[in-house]
Amino acid sequence: MDKIEIKGLTLEYRDANSSYVALENIDLSVKEGEFVCIIGPSGCGKSSLLSVIEGLNKPSSGKIYIDGSEISGPGTDRGVVFQHYSLFPWLTTVGNIVFAMKQNKCKGSGKELAATAREYLAKVGLEDTFDKYPAQLSGGMQQRVAIAKVLAANAQIFLMDEPFGAIDPKNRQELQELIGLLAREEKKTVLFVTHDIEEAILLGDRIIYIDDKKIQADITVDIEKPRTKASLVGNNTYTKLHNTLMGLFYKMVATQIGGEEVVI
Ligand SMILES: Nc1ncnc2c1ncn2[C@@H]1O[C@H](COP(=O)(O)OP(=O)(O)OP(=O)(O)O)[C@@H](O)[C@H]1O
Ligand SMILES: [Mg+2]
Repeated sequence: MDKIEIKGLTLEYRDANSSYVALENIDLSVKEGEFVCIIGPSGCGKSSLLSVIEGLNKPSSGKIYIDGSEISGPGTDRGVVFQHYSLFPWLTTVGNIVFAMKQNKCKGSGKELAATAREYLAKVGLEDTFDKYPAQLSGGMQQRVAIAKVLAANAQIFLMDEPFGAIDPKNRQELQELIGLLAREEKKTVLFVTHDIEEAILLGDRIIYIDDKKIQADITVDIEKPRTKASLVGNNTYTKLHNTLMGLFYKMVATQIGGEEVVI
């Protein structure tokens, strides 16, 4: 059985005066433990897709199943990490994690949950931040806390929307390695939205390309894991895949500006 199964998903945003179809007839199956990267031009519906899987938006038609059961709203099986605002500013790092654990009905006293929160903070390299508030941490450190939070709360599915989009290159590389390692170790199923083709190839078992409200390509990344940026340099499969994905983006740009052919 697939971990996530999406069948005929259409999402139409409606208000009193207008409506807009953001996703049209999406079919997607994701296996347990699979790391699926989602790319596509701005406005193509990547965040919308995650929001429906999260259960915040209801499909206009179609169904979403997790472990074979249809979802009807948000659930403790799914944890989200966004580019910003994944933490409550008025709680410490430990406080944020304990809050998420309580929400997910993790068992234990307050002290025990705080001890587990500290273990997960150590796991993401943040031993020294137990009593710090998000505003006292760098963006990269805040994203580490957000990752520790979804891990500690025992979410089986991670929904990550450009989580490293605002992080400097050095910290970004460290975070990429960290999420790749933790997802494998803890057998998480990950849907990871990114604008960065290199990041998608580095992390993904599969890459989904969305455009024009639909999945236009679903590509398996046939490169052994673990991968590092250095190991991808000069790798033929990487170069070919990078060109294919760039081609998809350029085709979209050509269509938008009315061109017929683009030479890369
Ligand atoms: N609440 C909403 N009401 C109406 N339209 C919306 C709403 N949220 C998103 N949209 C529209 O749906 C389309 C898809 O938006 P979405 O945020 O999913 O795109 P995206 O692929 O995540 O873009 P980006 O890469 O810029 O984050 C856009 O045209 C957007 O304007
Ligand atoms: Mg988005």
